[in-house]
Amino acid sequence: MKILIINGPNLNMLGLREPGIYGDRNYATLCTLCEQWCAEEGMECELFQTNHEGAIVDKIQEAYGRFDGIVINPAAYTHTSVAILDALKAVSIPTVEVHISKVSDREAFRQISYVSLYALRTIEGMGFEGYREAICALKKHLNK
Ligand code: DQA
Repeated sequence: MKILIINGPNLNMLGLREPGIYGDRNYATLCTLCEQWCAEEGMECELFQTNHEGAIVDKIQEAYGRFDGIVINPAAYTHTSVAILDALKAVSIPTVEVHISKVSDREAFRQISYVSLYALRTIEGMGFEGYREAICALKKHLNK
C-alpha cells in the first residue's frame, strides 16, 4: 500500500509560521513523523510540498496508477481551488483531507473547503497528530 502525502502553500514555514496556531515544530519534523507513522502501519509513503496550485494538480494527476491513497493538506488552496478538487475527482484516488488547525473555529473565508466535497474524511484541529489519524483512516478504508 503506497500513499502520497501532499502539503500546500506555507506549510514549509511550519515552526516559524504563526506558532500559536500551527505549533513550533517544523516541516522536516512533520515529514519524519509521517514517515514513521506510515512505517508503523506497514505503508509506503512519498511526501510532497509546494507553494504552487498547478504543481499540486500535476502531482495528483501523476499519482494515477502509482498511489493507492492520498493524504492532503491543501492549506490556503482548500478554500479556493476547484482545480485541486477536479484533479482528485479525475484520478479517483481515495483521499483524506487534513488541517493542523481547527479551521471550523476560524475566519469565515476558511469555512469553505472544495476538497472536502471529494474527501472521504476531513480531520482538523489535531495538530501534527491529524496526519496520523489521516494515515490510519486511509489504511482502514483501503483494507475494506
Ligand atoms: C491549514 C488551514 C488553512 O486555512 C490555512 O490556509 C493553512 C493551513 C491548516 O493546516 O490548518 O495554510 O490548512
